[in-house]
Amino acid sequence: MDKLVIEGGRRLEGTVTISGAKNACLPILAATLLSDEKSVIRNIPSLRDIATMLKILKNFGARVVQDGDVITVEPKGYTKYTAPYDLVSTMRASICVLGPLLAKQKKAEVSFPGGCIIGPRPIDIHLKGLSALNAKLKVERGYIIADGSKMRGSHIYLGGHFGSSVLATANIMMAATLIKGVTTIENAACEPEVMDLAAFLVKMGAKIKDYGSHRIIVEGVKKLHGADHSVIPDRIEAGTYMIASAITKGDVTLKNAKLEHLIAVEDKLSEAGIDIKKVPNGIRVRGARRLKPIDVTTLPYPGFPTDMQAQVMSLMTVTDGISVITEKIYPERFIHISEMNRMGANIILEGANAIVKGVKALSGAPVMASDLRASAALVLAGLVAKDRTDVHRIYHLDRGYEKIEEKLTKLGAKVWREKDK
Ligand code: EPZ
Repeated sequence: MDKLVIEGGRRLEGTVTISGAKNACLPILAATLLSDEKSVIRNIPSLRDIATMLKILKNFGARVVQDGDVITVEPKGYTKYTAPYDLVSTMRASICVLGPLLAKQKKAEVSFPGGCIIGPRPIDIHLKGLSALNAKLKVERGYIIADGSKMRGSHIYLGGHFGSSVLATANIMMAATLIKGVTTIENAACEPEVMDLAAFLVKMGAKIKDYGSHRIIVEGVKKLHGADHSVIPDRIEAGTYMIASAITKGDVTLKNAKLEHLIAVEDKLSEAGIDIKKVPNGIRVRGARRLKPIDVTTLPYPGFPTDMQAQVMSLMTVTDGISVITEKIYPERFIHISEMNRMGANIILEGANAIVKGVKALSGAPVMASDLRASAALVLAGLVAKDRTDVHRIYHLDRGYEKIEEKLTKLGAKVWREKDK
């Protein structure tokens, strides 16, 4: 396994190009299974999670051709409907093949994804929604075994203990495109990635109204065709580079990033004193000499994203004063705290509230995190820390950040990849 080595203390400057959104690509790739025809998906980042989804599609019998950031999927004649444990266990997002398989093949067997390092992550909302569409579901041998032969449209409340669910909304919306009748999804997630999936489905011929709101209406059609689609830029990658600029008091322009997808992040970072401006085809972020502490609560979109919680915490570790960061989506998503404290941060966890007392400086250390965003946050801390930081197990970073060391180096950071012992 590789590690990333960072020699901190350099100001970042210049332009970084933001890649396509991983979390939009994954359900969109799954949605190609709804048609027999060829679909072309553009602006796909080169990431481990994308490679896993392509393996899953190939495993079902779809033909997949990759040419740079363009992927062509031709599912014509695919007959398999089992997503096996060895693929699903490496990526929870594999669950989003359940809806397309049920709608198209009328049956599905998908390994139960189980928990993960950021918390228990159940799938009850997915199952509740599919049951409401009259799918027959059972769990056997660790698999969800589903029969969709009698599915029909329905009125569904798709909420759970922590609000709406991104991938459950994706799953139900995809399932509803090809079944008889009208489906109304109440409390639907309205994340930009859900909207991008809906836009792709509409290009395939689906009848979907009001996506982007908390009530999505889908009228089933008999058949969907292939489509050509370019995915939206990755708002979480963009947010991470916004903080890379802020934490190094830098001046970075994020090419392709959409500020309208980052309203809550813009709001909070501006409150901290960071200068954020929309520029043609991107966002310019300039750090301030002195930052102010901020209180942040993660919420479903358009609230502050949980996928940016660890990164904003890195910034607050070196900001004078006390910041409180409250996690309302995954109350256990705090594995980065102990690693940040090893670098000299002063963070206490009380329930789902992290109390961050800003320190004058962080000092480089060997660190490790078993979660994608936590790893990104440690890289950010490494950029500002004195001396050398070794971020071990960057397997996780490679799941979600395309060419991170290349992009940071281009901005002036001293960062490189090494083989870990
Ligand atoms: C998506 O996961 C993202 N993944 C996650 O990004 C992101 O953290 C999350 O949405 C929240 O924004 C992809 O899009 C591939 P949820 P998802 O269902 O859809 C609870 C990253 O770093 N819940 O919206 O699986 C759940 O436990 C990843 O890129 C249930 O209780 O998340 C959480 O508390 C990590 N039952 C809340 O809902 C369910 O059946 C929201 O989760 C489903 C979810």
